[in-house]
Amino acid sequence: MVKSPRIIHLSDLHIGYRDCGEKTARIVLNIIKRESPDNNIIVITGDIADRGACEADLSAGQELLERLRSRGFTVLLCPGNHDYGTGFVNSAETARKFKERFLPQVKEFPRLDMIKNIAFIGLDSTADELHWYDRYFADGELGKVQLQRLEKVMSDPQIKDKIKVVYLHHHPIHFIPFHQLKDRRKLREIIEGRADILLFGHLHFGGTYHNTWNIKIVIDGGSSTGKLALGIFSIKIKHRVIDPADFSVIEKNYLED
Ligand SMILES: [Fe+2]
Ligand SMILES: [Fe+2]
Repeated sequence: MVKSPRIIHLSDLHIGYRDCGEKTARIVLNIIKRESPDNNIIVITGDIADRGACEADLSAGQELLERLRSRGFTVLLCPGNHDYGTGFVNSAETARKFKERFLPQVKEFPRLDMIKNIAFIGLDSTADELHWYDRYFADGELGKVQLQRLEKVMSDPQIKDKIKVVYLHHHPIHFIPFHQLKDRRKLREIIEGRADILLFGHLHFGGTYHNTWNIKIVIDGGSSTGKLALGIFSIKIKHRVIDPADFSVIEKNYLED
């Protein structure tokens, strides 16, 4: 039987905001020191950069991800609203540049990566929030086209016997004005009871929800570098490692020495 790799879930690094870059560097260093690249896959659910249009934030992010990859780690990521703009104003041009740099091999979303017995399905939850009329605020929308493609991926016979991990940036369950995933009900219709693991970030609260949407593991990754939730709340930093072999979740803190 194929051994499932564990999944290290990181989210909302916000490199470029205060000391979030230094914290990300410490997380990277400790993952390299403590974990093996042979049985761990890293999934980052967006907001890698704090300001998607800022060259310094982007190059610092690329350099840190390269440190992990050069040690043999597979790093999968999906974009967040900050990667496509300022967090409150998205830009199609910034989105294009981010994808060119961070996702050069990804032609479209959903992205599907099959690794051993796991099908990783990444979504772009800012994809349909780039028009002149809806590019403001921190809402997300997957859009009709992406959802149609997702339905196809979920029914693809090649992933039938795989553990299915769906990951995206925006919180698909909780509703906060101007921070909501607008088409979360349609997402639910497609993945409810079909995905095994659902990972996301965006609100910076963090938490594990068991059996929501009839999905075994549902995790809000919070902000892995501790950026405040809604600009007000300081939440204890936790990094979650998921073992798909028994669907257990281990809470760690890679910032601690
Ligand atoms: Fe964020
Ligand atoms: Fe976000």
